[in-house]
Amino acid sequence: GDAEKGAFPHFMLKEIYEQPETLANAMRGRLDSDNATAHFGGLNLGAQQLRQIDRVVMTACGTSYHAALVGEYLFEEFARVPVEVEYASELRYRNPPMDRNTVVLALTQSGETADTLAALRESKRMGHTTLAICNAVGSSIARETDGGVYLHAGPEIGVASTKAFTSQVAVLAMLALYLGRTRHLSSTQGQRIIAELQALPDVIRKTLECHDQVKRVAAKYADAKNVLYLGRQYLYPVALEGALKLKEISYIHAEGYPAAEMKHGPIALVDESTPSVFLVPRGNVFDKVMSNMQEIKARGGPVIAIASPGDHEVAAVADDVIEIPDVPEYLQPIVTAIPLQLLAYEIALLCGCDVDKPRNLAKSVTVE
Ligand code: AGP
Repeated sequence: GDAEKGAFPHFMLKEIYEQPETLANAMRGRLDSDNATAHFGGLNLGAQQLRQIDRVVMTACGTSYHAALVGEYLFEEFARVPVEVEYASELRYRNPPMDRNTVVLALTQSGETADTLAALRESKRMGHTTLAICNAVGSSIARETDGGVYLHAGPEIGVASTKAFTSQVAVLAMLALYLGRTRHLSSTQGQRIIAELQALPDVIRKTLECHDQVKRVAAKYADAKNVLYLGRQYLYPVALEGALKLKEISYIHAEGYPAAEMKHGPIALVDESTPSVFLVPRGNVFDKVMSNMQEIKARGGPVIAIASPGDHEVAAVADDVIEIPDVPEYLQPIVTAIPLQLLAYEIALLCGCDVDKPRNLAKSVTVE
């Protein structure tokens, strides 16, 4: 009912604004400063088994799949464990060679997604240890997995997933820290990661202040027929997620791409009426993304940049800039997701769409 939305006109907006708290909830009691690691009550993995994990296959659908793609970068960086990410609908009918030390990790907000449940069951049948990162307590997937981590994000009502995504990424970062600390990650590195994670809720509170900038950008581009979302490395999955958000609630066609892949085809789509949203905060690939941005400008495409505060280099090239706080690169997926959620929301409103209940979509897809 309306009461649960409180002061917010839509569940989606309420859930976007809940993210400082939902992120704090995801981390509560799980960060262990003394040992520079993370702990999870329900993982059900012995120390021996933990050390033996030599590969992780992450499986999910939709937004949860995008979170898993971020997880691939996180596990690689902190735990040096090879990760493969598979759509659950594909994994369930594949017979990929996996040895016994491969763990299958399902990601799901609802815990009821039919394809994800089927992929989990199939993995169990093949003798793999299964884990899940799940929001809905007591859901089918939460019950059937060997072990797992709850998001504690509270019910997500808006069909477009928002707070579940950022919590999934935070849990993946903690899992990467945990796995990393059983391997080669130093206690100094562990302490640094813990401090950065602890600062996150306040950073997200600050990030939400970009809402006014987002509104101005939305008003300018709400009549677009096509929008491109571009990012690299940690922000490539966020480009996919930004495009999915816009598609599902505004019905505007959008594509997410790794920014450098544009020149292999999609750049043909660029013209004055096709805006590109660039994820270009400061970091390792900043210069590379800048030059991808210039390639789009040179073809007359409008550019909206999600950038670090006061970045003059970006402002000199982009038509519009939305500023987000500076964070280490591995946390940029969480921070940059916020303006993209807000942008999809504001554009959908301007298009007169039913934000919380978009056409053709159900909150959880319990059919194959
Ligand atoms: C995201 O906004 C979606 N509506 C959808 O892609 C969703 O993430 C997907 O169906 C997976 O759901 P789950 O996380 O509940 O398994």
